[in-house]
Amino acid sequence: MKGATTNICYNVLDRNVHEKKLGDKVAFYWEGNEPEETTQITYRELLVKVCQFSNVLRKQGIRKGDRVAIYMPMIPELVVAMLSCARLGALHSIVFAGFSAESLCERILDSSCSLLITTDAFYRGEKLVNLKMLADEALEKCREKGFPVRRCIVVKHLGRAELGMGDSPSQSPPVKRSCPDVQISWNQGVDLWWHELVQEAGDECEPEWCDAEDPLFILYTSGSTGKPKGVVHTTGGYMLYVATTFKYVFDFHSEDVFWCTADIGWITGHSYITYGPLANGATSVLFEGIPTYPDVGRLWNIVDKYKVTKFYTAPTAIRLLMKFGDEPVTKHSRASLQVLGTVGEPINPEAWLWYHRVVGSERCSIVDTFWQTETGGHMLTPLPGATPMKPGSATFPFFGVAPAILNESGEELEGEAEGYLVFKQPWPGIMRTVYGNHGRFETTYFKKFPGYYVTGDGCRRDQDGYYWITGRIDDMLNVSGHLLSTAEVESALVEHEAVAEAAVVGHPHPVKGECLYCFVTLCDGHTFSPTLKEELKKQIREKIGPIATPDYIQNAPGLPKTRSGKIMRRVLRKIAQNDHDLGDTSTVADPSVISHLFSHRCLVTQ
Ligand code: PRX
Repeated sequence: MKGATTNICYNVLDRNVHEKKLGDKVAFYWEGNEPEETTQITYRELLVKVCQFSNVLRKQGIRKGDRVAIYMPMIPELVVAMLSCARLGALHSIVFAGFSAESLCERILDSSCSLLITTDAFYRGEKLVNLKMLADEALEKCREKGFPVRRCIVVKHLGRAELGMGDSPSQSPPVKRSCPDVQISWNQGVDLWWHELVQEAGDECEPEWCDAEDPLFILYTSGSTGKPKGVVHTTGGYMLYVATTFKYVFDFHSEDVFWCTADIGWITGHSYITYGPLANGATSVLFEGIPTYPDVGRLWNIVDKYKVTKFYTAPTAIRLLMKFGDEPVTKHSRASLQVLGTVGEPINPEAWLWYHRVVGSERCSIVDTFWQTETGGHMLTPLPGATPMKPGSATFPFFGVAPAILNESGEELEGEAEGYLVFKQPWPGIMRTVYGNHGRFETTYFKKFPGYYVTGDGCRRDQDGYYWITGRIDDMLNVSGHLLSTAEVESALVEHEAVAEAAVVGHPHPVKGECLYCFVTLCDGHTFSPTLKEELKKQIREKIGPIATPDYIQNAPGLPKTRSGKIMRRVLRKIAQNDHDLGDTSTVADPSVISHLFSHRCLVTQ
């Protein structure tokens, strides 16, 4: 209805509490990094916390349309923060807590966020991450670039024990591990403690009524030019799409306990930890830790603890756990499991079969869900119990999704075919723009094949009509389900004074799916050494984040280029894999570089 208004926070909380009488239902079981650190939060409690924090944000001057950056680990306050933004019609821009200070700064500046919400520190397995320090560095960089962020709200997470918080299970997560070694610096006039602010805040807050097309959030994803794109999703369509896909793809029933292991810093967490499950009044697990800590049976331990019925993870996690054999899985009951989902990258049939046979004891449906940050929710996916499965295929389109496979000339291919995966018509959850750059939105997704949305993925359709994603066909890399562009890694490398030129390609990896293989040409006067390699890795971690750390760095006195100077990545990929079947190399300006690179390949992971 034209002129109608809505609010997604109202729909996922107030409506569930007041109309559906789900106030006492658990919204989240929170499981901390340590198995003993747990808490739970009901829909009513979540609503109160969100109202309090919305009042805090309002008091800090946050209004509809403002942008708020969030840089936090997987703690309940992360969900509270994002829903509070949504309640006020402010756009949240969540930056994965594994990203570097530089990446955070770049994202804050791109969407001129006026406020940052972060955390003192957290543990990821054994590793302590001093997040506040990274946030401070990012804010300092923003100031240097002439953009002072007004406020930084800090959740005391590792320091919770000192506050005497966490005695009541539904209040705040208890955190046993204190962190004497974490030094938190405090910027007077900018930093504010979360717990102090909410103490003074009222627990009712009228939502800001929004148009269906009002923006809901920005989430950055790598772009092939190297500069991340701020994907913008809007209120109505996104809400409908995540609610519906969650319901059908996971065959949701009210008694389910759902667990998506993704981080909320990625779209999977936005859609299938926060918005999709809450829109359906579901109970979910929110997990701060990692699959291998304190041991490799952690995931199955959690499945049994909360009687998880629907479980959603990434192929990289499955491949990682496969390496440890069946026993860490089979020693746990897992009797509650019904549906197992996967997302983020193509799943190899071997991993699919292990997931099905060992984790699912051959009784669970596997849903291999293909989608993207840009699509908001699932696009190609089986429906559990209804779609006959084929290991490695995302099977068929979700309701209302119209895929097509095009050849290089843009012609639609019928029947068995392989080519570019595109969508022929919009769907409710499609992104609406690239923040601040609508032209880039049009060029990236709609220019190559006018009239179609171009995914950037290759795809094959078999004789039974099943779709098989074959991987990216642009300059993007998929490392452990995380997209990176070759350009962003290359620019991080060439910022090092020793590097004149760099070329990065994807290389097969047994756990990550794909890893980074970098070729670097050094400036005169510099020598290639183990120390330099370490410096380059550090450089990438600082510029982008640990996920972009390369597995291989090879010295390349020359790179294979066309006569017009374009680096031939196709050839470099073959060199990295020691595949001498190079195809046509007649356009290579100096063929001698190829044999040199072959004879100096990196043989082991560094
Ligand atoms: O290449 C596809 C791959 O991940 C890309 C999207 O990455 P991102 O925007 O970070 O979102 C990841 C989570 C939705 C896609 O273009 N991808 C995602 N799911 C699958 C997949 N490739 C194959 N099979 C999948 N199920």
